[in-house]
Amino acid sequence: LAIVGSLRKGSYNRQLALAAKEIVGSRADFELLEYHDVPMMNEDIEYPAPQAVKRVRDAVKSADGIWFFTPEYNHFFPGVLKNLIDWLSRPENDEETPVLDSKPAAISGISLGMCGTGLAQDHLVTLISFLNMDVMNTPRLTIPYASELLDSDDKLVLGDRYHRYLKKQAEAFLSFIQKHSL
Ligand code: FNR
Repeated sequence: LAIVGSLRKGSYNRQLALAAKEIVGSRADFELLEYHDVPMMNEDIEYPAPQAVKRVRDAVKSADGIWFFTPEYNHFFPGVLKNLIDWLSRPENDEETPVLDSKPAAISGISLGMCGTGLAQDHLVTLISFLNMDVMNTPRLTIPYASELLDSDDKLVLGDRYHRYLKKQAEAFLSFIQKHSL
């Protein structure tokens, strides 16, 4: 399950996730989580969980692995992603384990700046490690200077080099997930 940290329609990170989906092909079911309708965390509305929260929890629960594709906002990952993770970090009830617990996780990101989301990714690792996700720390993919990889329609053209890195990460994550399930 891919979680993109941007709600923007033309998001470069969303486009990167779609490129990963194509690379993975028939080797796994690869879905993008839609979560624009998840409300801001507010404990007043936490129980019973809003419908959108139930939907994203179920999607995460049934996934064998979570691949984050995150932009970088002010050297951090975006608030929408933090909000989503805050909801996912809470169990549905006292008997349930939070859905992110022990899930394999991979991280990639593309940004306009020179860090290519590296700083945002480090913060995300801190958060998801706290939530006990099983993080694949290598390889991670950071793509800087996104504007150099866009065609005239703002479509992402990865080129051989980044396509190779993305393929390498996809293959590493598939075997990471397989090892995890043994
Ligand atoms: C940015 N951007 C940005 N880029 C970067 O490399 N480092 C940064 O710290 C920031 N900070 C930042 C803050 C805010 C509030 C915005 C809106 C943007 C630019 C960012 O890389 C660019 O908007 C990407 O296109 C966002 O990713 P998506 O939406 O294309 O996936």
